[in-house]
Amino acid sequence: MGIGEVMDLIIEAAKIIANSKIVISFTGAGISAESGIPTFRGSGGLWENYRIEDVATPEGFKKNPKLVWEFYLERRKKIAKAKPNLGHTALAELEAIFEKVGKGRRFYVITQNIDNLHQEAGSKNVIELHGNIWFTRCSNPSCEKSKPFLDKKVEYDELPPKCDVCGSYLRPHVVWFGEPLPQDALNDAFDLASVADAVIVVGTSGVVFPAAYVPHIVKESGGKVIEINVEPSAITNISDVFIMEKAGITLLEIVKKVKEFLDIV
Ligand code: OAD
Ligand code: ZN
Repeated sequence: MGIGEVMDLIIEAAKIIANSKIVISFTGAGISAESGIPTFRGSGGLWENYRIEDVATPEGFKKNPKLVWEFYLERRKKIAKAKPNLGHTALAELEAIFEKVGKGRRFYVITQNIDNLHQEAGSKNVIELHGNIWFTRCSNPSCEKSKPFLDKKVEYDELPPKCDVCGSYLRPHVVWFGEPLPQDALNDAFDLASVADAVIVVGTSGVVFPAAYVPHIVKESGGKVIEINVEPSAITNISDVFIMEKAGITLLEIVKKVKEFLDIV
């Protein structure tokens, strides 16, 4: 994209956001790419050295829970080194701006990511559709420890780790293929999508459902769809504004313009 064309689209996106009351951002692995965390479907993607069925399905966990834990501890180590980038901080700033301006304005991040980087950047209104890698829970649903608890460990003495209450295996608090999404998070996300004036879709291929319904619900409910991605995605055909650029700098520039439109210094 030429620089003039990009600037025009950034201004168009910022105008939509500045004129909206309820705005959500729907994010995927692409927003964390510039923090050094590989995406799923790109080249160098995370699944390349592992088969999805082995490490990200309930069947894989049943068959070889140790391998699954090795995979997730490796991911924890990588994510522990990552810092939020310009894209994360821009979205956190947008939430702060909306809060400051008030008058019923609300901003939420709905993320498919499990890396916690939105929260680390300062976002408070974060809905996690696929869990959080820094939480663990007991795999026995009737155990009191089946409620997720914070777990910063990147190494365990024994793998797979066992629950100290019931002896079942502990598991990472992430959604695997074939598993339902956390019901509360999904309900909140769909409710917000149905009332949002605009959604900023960032760095997602938009092919994993039910999460990917979010931008479609916004569109069907009459809201605007702004998309930022380095390449076209499954969402691009419903986008009102598509900016084919990297997430970090683009979001930074959009938020700058939003501040100008809202007269915030
Ligand atoms: P994908 O890997 O499918 O897509 C990442 C998207 O980010 C691609 O469309 C890239 O073009 C784009 N991208 C890469 N770098 C970017 C950058 N610097 N700026 C902007 N865009 C960039 O990741 P997701 O869509 O998040 O689910 O994948 C969705 C779900 O599939 C994940 O949450 C995960 C996976 O299975 C579970 O684990 C349940
Ligand atoms: Zn237990």
